[in-house]
Amino acid sequence: MFYDNHGRKINYVRLAVTDRCNLRCFYCMPESGIKYMNREDLLTFEEMERMLRVFAEQGINKVRITGGEPFVRRGIMEFLESIATLPGIDHINITTNGTTTGQYIDRLQAIGIRAVNLSLDSLDKDRFFEITRRNEFDNVMETFHQLLDTDINVKINMVVMEGRNIEDIYPMVLLTRDHNVSVRFIEEMPFNGTEGQGNTTFWPMKKILDHVKAEFPEVEKLPDPPSSTSRNYKIKGFKGDFGIIAAYTRTFCGTCNRIRVTPQGTLKTCLYEGGGTSLRDIIRSGASDHQLTDHLQKILSNRFKDGFEAENDRKNNPVSESMATIGG
Ligand code: GTP
Ligand code: 5AD
Ligand code: SF4
Repeated sequence: MFYDNHGRKINYVRLAVTDRCNLRCFYCMPESGIKYMNREDLLTFEEMERMLRVFAEQGINKVRITGGEPFVRRGIMEFLESIATLPGIDHINITTNGTTTGQYIDRLQAIGIRAVNLSLDSLDKDRFFEITRRNEFDNVMETFHQLLDTDINVKINMVVMEGRNIEDIYPMVLLTRDHNVSVRFIEEMPFNGTEGQGNTTFWPMKKILDHVKAEFPEVEKLPDPPSSTSRNYKIKGFKGDFGIIAAYTRTFCGTCNRIRVTPQGTLKTCLYEGGGTSLRDIIRSGASDHQLTDHLQKILSNRFKDGFEAENDRKNNPVSESMATIGG
């Protein structure tokens, strides 16, 4: 079992399989001038699989596949099929933008994928285009409806942004009236590929909740699962529910059970951490499974207490990465 120096058990890894994406969400990446990583700098699928096997032997039983957009990496479906059989991995969840995901749903179900989080920041085609700079709204909605017809648990991730999609908050809540879906409203973070917090007027968790309550007074609090990123609610009588993720306010660090691996194999023990440790270099230097485990144990015994401590440690290197290079 992996424990960190604050007594937190680590059982969840977020694995970003690519830094590439076929959308250009302005809160994540600039429109142009992005330099993608070279193929040889990325972890290969074989390296990722080995890493997951070593993690699983130490009790990491939940994997989230993210990116960039996972489904733009060639061979992703075969990789998922392969890791689905790894002993000790109980949950493989995926965070995707849904543009091309529809075609894989049958195969995802066949290998036992139980949960997909769909990034969808607007229910309005024009606003979707303004935010993502791509005309993919219809494809994403088709994926959403296909997913609803399965037994896969569907969550929608909506980053809340002044001047961009505040009008979408109520329609998103209404979506939970008719569908068994969890909508999560997310505080915007500064991981947008440029320096500075994206929006001038930031919407913190409380403001989002007050805004929902103004229109839907019958908000009920739901219990939050252990280590949940979201605080969860539902509107009385609605089929689905909604949550708010205080990603910027960082209210959930105390129960943080996760580590992240970037597409080039850098282990980050906190999203806000500036550096990290290259597992890729350790693997490529010929380390045994045992040595890899020892490295991990050492890194986890020196983990930041929370996202604020991690951010403060960056000193003259303010947050400016794109979320696509960290995996969210
Ligand atoms: P579930 O397991 O379904 O609850 O998903 P999740 O919230 O762990 O992951 P998802 O990929 O859907 O991320 C939703 C939002 O939460 C994104 O904006 C992430 O960047 C943010 N998020 C996920 N993990 C962390 C974290 O450890 N710290 C912070 N600050 N934000 C996070
Ligand atoms: N702030 C908050 N959430 C973000 N995501 C991407 N960039 C940001 C940001 N700057 C979200 C995506 C996706 C998840 C992995 O992270 O919408 O759903
Ligand atoms: Fe974990 Fe860092 Fe996120 Fe806090 S900010 S929940 S410590 S990754």
